[in-house]
Amino acid sequence: MSDEKSFHMTPDEFRRHGHAVVDWIADYHSRIESFPVLSQVKPGQIRASLPANAPAQGEPFDALLKDVEKLILPGITHWQSPNFFAYFPSNGSGPGILGDLLSSGLGVQGMLWSTSPACTELETHVLDWLVPMLGLPEKFLSSSTGGGVIQDTASSAALCALLAARERATNYASNQKGCDGRIVAYASSQTHSSLEKASMIAGIGVSNLRLIDVDENFAMRPEALARQIEADKRAGLVPCFVCATVGTTSSNAMDPIAAIAEICRTHNLWLHVDAAMSGTAALCREFHHLQNGVEFADSYCFNPHKWMFTTFDCDCFWVADRKALIRTLSILPEYLRNQATESGAVIDYRDWQIQLGRRFRSLKLWFVIRHYGVEGLQHHIRRHVELAQQFAEWVRSDSRFEVAAPVPLNLICFRHKGGDAANQTIMERLNCSGDLFLTHTKLNGKFTLRLCVGQTKTEARHVEKAWKRICEEAEKVTVAA
Ligand SMILES: Cc1ncc(COP(=O)(O)O)c(C=O)c1O
Repeated sequence: MSDEKSFHMTPDEFRRHGHAVVDWIADYHSRIESFPVLSQVKPGQIRASLPANAPAQGEPFDALLKDVEKLILPGITHWQSPNFFAYFPSNGSGPGILGDLLSSGLGVQGMLWSTSPACTELETHVLDWLVPMLGLPEKFLSSSTGGGVIQDTASSAALCALLAARERATNYASNQKGCDGRIVAYASSQTHSSLEKASMIAGIGVSNLRLIDVDENFAMRPEALARQIEADKRAGLVPCFVCATVGTTSSNAMDPIAAIAEICRTHNLWLHVDAAMSGTAALCREFHHLQNGVEFADSYCFNPHKWMFTTFDCDCFWVADRKALIRTLSILPEYLRNQATESGAVIDYRDWQIQLGRRFRSLKLWFVIRHYGVEGLQHHIRRHVELAQQFAEWVRSDSRFEVAAPVPLNLICFRHKGGDAANQTIMERLNCSGDLFLTHTKLNGKFTLRLCVGQTKTEARHVEKAWKRICEEAEKVTVAA
């Protein structure tokens, strides 16, 4: 036996502390409703409670867990609370957490097929499963011309799609020579800000990302898109890419994919469909119509880490033509050369993403899908939509409020008729109370409340309480006015 000095955690210690951590997580979830949903700390408060310097000597593990409870929990906004209605959710689940834990336990870095074949092959397989589950076109299957890959976020997916589009439009010259300022991309004025960032990073430039006008439902106007593309072509520019959104962040607007796809086909533009939040709804047949035309997309992404119970981070991204993506992102330095890659018989996912290294994310997705089954996932998605529609009905039938945008799924945009200040006050009071957390947007220049029903454990009683609390705060605002 070696008597070499070691500071490592022994396997027995790991087992004991690991059980304690799992117990802590289970307890946390069972008492989560006792915490204020939005953290109530002031800026700097958490840091001020931490020691100025790192410990010279290691500390007992129990002390770490105690400090999580004492020092960290106050600074947590409880995303997993059933009273979390803000932004879009980042929901999780038991199988998702355990899959993520196993991924850490295996500690695999799956940049190449050969650096862990199961990491690559499970990912390919699960993304192939999802194609029929979501009613996506067969061309996205790995057995066809395309294939799927897990990205960290929808922002990365958009960037990869934009880069591939840029390369395809310039016959793969801009990777070599850089952009010449003539390449143009298109999205609606309601598109997520990640497209603006992608345009910055891809060298297209924010002013060459055309933000197309939307209709009264906040969906892209295809005729405005066509006009802008034609004007850009006449000006000698090179249109290359359009992003259509299934469920915009601000109001859950649905861009008309089929009409946009038609324009893309006419002008040979890459069509990326961003379904980050609402793509999960496609698990249910009755919501397929929201993404009619997806069969014409060159790429598509949705985030199981938003609404499909898969612990952050997990964005599924498919392309119709994997060769275009790989040619855009592939670089093979000598130190990564290996027989499997040279044989051409394997997928090396490093060629499908920005980063080189990658985690074994498909494990948690696999666990979630196998735990719930398609039936279980559909059940909970339908329930969230039902609860949201019920909430929208309450808003519609209360003369103090109005619904501010269509409610196709589980996001309700609404406002008190008392004006911006009244709405802001209602929101701030609710969030300060800790009873629930909701956020806002601006629609047609007006401050608008957003309530999204998508947290894993949200039930009717939580949505009922949210409406009751909103009404109570509205009452106070009206009295004060
Ligand atoms: C429609 C849409 N696209 C993209 C994003 C960006 O998501 P991510 O955090 O995965 O980059 C969001 C985030 O809410 C979104 O709603």
